[in-house]
Amino acid sequence: MAQVVAISSGKGGTGKTTLCAGVACALAELGQRVLCIDADIGLRNLDIALGMAELPILSFTDVYHGVYPLSHAAKHPAFPNLSLLTAPIRENPEHISLSAFGHMLWKVRQEYDWCLIDAPAGLGMGFQLATKFADQVLVVSTPDPASLRDVSRVVDLLALQHITELRLAVNRVDGRMFSRMHLTVDDMMDDVGLPLIGIVPEDPNVILAAAENTALLSKTKKGAALACRNIASRLAGKRTPLMKLHR
Ligand SMILES: Nc1ncnc2c1ncn2[C@@H]1O[C@H](COP(=O)(O)OP(=O)(O)OP(=O)(O)O)[C@@H](O)[C@H]1O
Ligand SMILES: [Mg+2]
Repeated sequence: MAQVVAISSGKGGTGKTTLCAGVACALAELGQRVLCIDADIGLRNLDIALGMAELPILSFTDVYHGVYPLSHAAKHPAFPNLSLLTAPIRENPEHISLSAFGHMLWKVRQEYDWCLIDAPAGLGMGFQLATKFADQVLVVSTPDPASLRDVSRVVDLLALQHITELRLAVNRVDGRMFSRMHLTVDDMMDDVGLPLIGIVPEDPNVILAAAENTALLSKTKKGAALACRNIASRLAGKRTPLMKLHR
């Protein structure tokens, strides 16, 4: 039975897509069967973060309308256990059916170990798609106070949806800036009231990998890629210490 995990944030551009791709590849490396779903209708880009931009990829609406079976989801060229359903680009978000999406997820749960859903910025239809059926939500923030404050709004909304398994991932952390802000991991957890699933350093390999149309985890074993592997291993229930940041 797949665990459905939504990757969400308050503010846009915090690194949801980057972390969704990195953690999905890391889970697949652990031998898990993983399906990624891009819920960013109209602005999809999870295929780029996964290094699958050149491949033909079905959208989740192709599958939930029954045009293609789930087994036709695009397979990752380097991580055979990992598949992707992209978001439709031309569909009006108002016309997306939450119940059809939920029905599709019921099938996904039978065939995979993990389903990671990349939510868009904001709290519209894509946010609902990603979170409505999720077993847990990873909320991604950067360390800046505005981004951390927005997490609290998301947490309040998710509480209304009765989602209680919420964890915080802090992305784009620069060790030197972190110490100059006198910010600790405990402060961040206190600010947003969520347990931490991982901290991910600022890493130029994120952009370089996307530019080379390759997955971050195929490019490097250090930095943000290592942080994604650590998050995957924590999701899978292994105790994994927080990585050290260079100051
Ligand atoms: N750890 C990192 N180090 C360096 N660059 C990063 C890191 N994480 C993300 N980025 C860059 O930041 C930008 C935004 O990242 P990403 O697209 O993953 O965010 P997002 O939360 O999915 O954005 P949106 O809200 O628009 O969907 C991208 O250009 C990405 O390459
Ligand atoms: Mg995104």
